[in-house]
Amino acid sequence: MSGKKNLHNLPLGKILVSPSLLAADFARLGSHIAEVEQGGAELLHLDVMDGHFVPNLSFGIPVIQGIRKGSNMLFDVHLMIEHPKTYVKAFADAGADHITFHVESADDPEETIAEIRKYGCTAGISVKPKTPAKAIEKYLNMIDLVLVMTVEPGFGGQSFMHDQVPKIAELHEMCKGTQVYIEVDGGVGDKTAAEVVTAGASVLVAGTGVFRAADGCANAIARLHALSDKLPAR
Ligand code: DX5
Ligand code: ZN
Repeated sequence: MSGKKNLHNLPLGKILVSPSLLAADFARLGSHIAEVEQGGAELLHLDVMDGHFVPNLSFGIPVIQGIRKGSNMLFDVHLMIEHPKTYVKAFADAGADHITFHVESADDPEETIAEIRKYGCTAGISVKPKTPAKAIEKYLNMIDLVLVMTVEPGFGGQSFMHDQVPKIAELHEMCKGTQVYIEVDGGVGDKTAAEVVTAGASVLVAGTGVFRAADGCANAIARLHALSDKLPAR
């Protein structure tokens, strides 16, 4: 469909960085987004929370619509909401290029995937820390990306859960021979990124790690990109 950026134009065998807007300075949203775009981040991770699926609220459709006007990045929308299917069209119209929903949410996954495709976006499914990889196995041939949460969703700035790394490795095995990207979200930064990359994740969400890096966003993004040679074959 017209105007959408296609995830599959980005390499599967290299690190892609998706800074999470939740950690940006909301008083200067436009210039902070420009900083990560100029710093080489391929995607912009947009965390939408509804106060039901997760115990927090963030931002939604009008904010995405607003920042769309000032950015050419691939908008990677992470829906932490109870009824994702209901809102797919609104997020696609607002400027989402890729939409990830949670397998634990109330709507039927196959119908939600079909709805995402209908509006020209690529589709992802996410698993919370307590959800096993096999919960999404049957959807792998229908989706473009799987998002492994390495914190309980709902808040930025939490500590990375090392016990989720075997799940990344398991999904890496399951995704061999496919074009499904493996994305990791939560507590990813200088101290933890190598571990997730070695396990097979190539799309790295980093909020605090990029937007609040002491030496600036561009250096933090470059350090993540430099891990590409640690990616296992697939
Ligand atoms: C958590 C969100 C994450 C979060 C990541 O529910 O899905 O995207 O913003 O933030 P950091 O990188 O600070 O853990
Ligand atoms: Zn997220």
